[in-house]
Amino acid sequence: MLVTGAGSGIGRCTAHELASLGARVALIGRQSGPLEQTAAEIAEDGGQCAVFRCNIRKEKLVQDVIAAILEQFGQIDGLVNNAGGQFPAPLAQIGKKGWDAVIETNLTGGFLMARECYTQWMADHGGAIVNIVADMWMGMPGMGHSGAARAGMVNFTETAAAEWGPSGVRVNAVAPGWIASSGLDTYPEAMKKVIRTLPRHVPLGRLGHEAEVSAAIVFLLSEAAAFINGACLRVDGGAPNARRHWPLNSPSPAASSQGFTGFHRASPPALFSGDED
Ligand code: ADE
Repeated sequence: MLVTGAGSGIGRCTAHELASLGARVALIGRQSGPLEQTAAEIAEDGGQCAVFRCNIRKEKLVQDVIAAILEQFGQIDGLVNNAGGQFPAPLAQIGKKGWDAVIETNLTGGFLMARECYTQWMADHGGAIVNIVADMWMGMPGMGHSGAARAGMVNFTETAAAEWGPSGVRVNAVAPGWIASSGLDTYPEAMKKVIRTLPRHVPLGRLGHEAEVSAAIVFLLSEAAAFINGACLRVDGGAPNARRHWPLNSPSPAASSQGFTGFHRASPPALFSGDED
């Protein structure tokens, strides 16, 4: 099983879940530090994994890393295309360089990883691919480059499902909404203030947990999802279904309960432990 962006957040959580289920996991990313940290955790928990550094934006590096993984693992049953990154900016302030960088990371890199997994292995042996996108439905103000890339990835998912399905390769997407991971603590204080208001915009009255996303990813990779192909599974508490004309009631204790906190190494963000504004 391959997981890109496995050094933190949803990628790290998914790598842990796959390893705990007995998969051998290739941890892929640009920086070795976080990947080695995830690898050490998985080894400590009794799982099997190996670290592969790769910049998914570079075609030759992607070709080489898939060949190296096949050499070491002998097979590739699944790919989690999770690596991504963007910076907040209104459209009018996004230059071509910044736009291209975000498209390359969040769209082109995912395509390259999927294509190489397919051509080098899955076309002849089958497999499953899960592309991680985002809650970009109806636009993504403040992150237009990422929204365009993620929307493109959903369409890529649909095309790949049709073209690669006959080879026994299922291609699906998972679209997480607002997820409470430690990454939220890295934002500047002004942004943290906004983040603290997010739960009241979600029908379920809370942010999601990494484990609630990885559960969906692992399900789509599994045989239990053997007839699911070309789908996008939203994991967002219904946030896009909230409408401005329909004020959300304060969630009942049942609705805003803990949720599924299945990741034993989760480190929830500190910003919610202070006073909500
Ligand atoms: N994570 C974020 N950007 C990445 C990239 N270009 N390659 C691999 N992992 C990444």
